[in-house]
Amino acid sequence: MKICRTRAEMRETVREWKRDGVSVGLVPTMGYLHEGHLGLVRLVREKAERVVTSIFVNPTQFGPNEDLATYPRDEARDLALLEAEGVDAVFVPSVEEMYGAGGDTYVEVPGLSGILQGALRPGHFRGVATVVTKLFNIVTPDFAVFGEKDYQQITLIRQMVRDLNMPVEIVAHPTVREPDGLAMSSRNVRLSTEHRAEAIMLSRSLARAEELAATGPDIADLEAAIRDVLAKGPSAEVKSVDIRDAETLAELSGPLDRPAVVLLAVGFGPVLLIDQRVITPH
Ligand code: PAJ
Repeated sequence: MKICRTRAEMRETVREWKRDGVSVGLVPTMGYLHEGHLGLVRLVREKAERVVTSIFVNPTQFGPNEDLATYPRDEARDLALLEAEGVDAVFVPSVEEMYGAGGDTYVEVPGLSGILQGALRPGHFRGVATVVTKLFNIVTPDFAVFGEKDYQQITLIRQMVRDLNMPVEIVAHPTVREPDGLAMSSRNVRLSTEHRAEAIMLSRSLARAEELAATGPDIADLEAAIRDVLAKGPSAEVKSVDIRDAETLAELSGPLDRPAVVLLAVGFGPVLLIDQRVITPH
């Protein structure tokens, strides 16, 4: 497995592969890898002949009061996990290597960036769109895999790729969960024992939404039922419960009559957890 710390090394590695006509897949991550990330790596290996994973904790997607400084990191462990998965190259740039001095260009998807998580985290999706564009330009992948766990993120990246004619196919991977249903996240390690136990209410509330979806319920009733389940975690600070069109993330009202995505953001102390599930009326 090749470890590339500079853009030049990464570009040269891919250039050599492409000379042999092989396809390249990219899994962008911020590291501290878990089974969710590794699921993405396995999926891209089915599609592409060479696999690149990037590990970069991207400062431009963290707000001033967010957890950039305390975001968990363990490069040695991450590299060992990726090596065991048969990854061909890992891109591990420094902040200086990615942003240098004097950068003044950003990628904006204003409609999708300003709603939902984007409204709670101003600037977050501009940072994501910008770093993903940079990674695409450096790695030039044929495929890139993103998790459905970050549903708004993958929706926004699809729109960006469509709007800017980026020559990369975006592939979605379903949310990978712990045995009790909690969506895997690098942030889960920061939950206290008590909060970890309560955090299963996110996936339980989504399972309840799926059960109710069959009957084509009213959107407002569905939201109330989800909030009832979340309220069973006494420390849960419910930041948002949104039920949106599964494709466009447009608001819905009245009876559920099309595939919708339920998006949750719930705080436990300093840790913000998100989860999602697509539900379909029968
Ligand atoms: P990060 O949070 O490290 O996640 C990297 C990728 O793994 C994302 O596509 C995310 O959706 C996916 N992922 C995380 N947990 C998952 C789970 N439990 N099941 C399935 N997929 C999961 O998302 C980012 O990094 C960054 O915003 C990034 C895209 C790398 C840009 O900086």
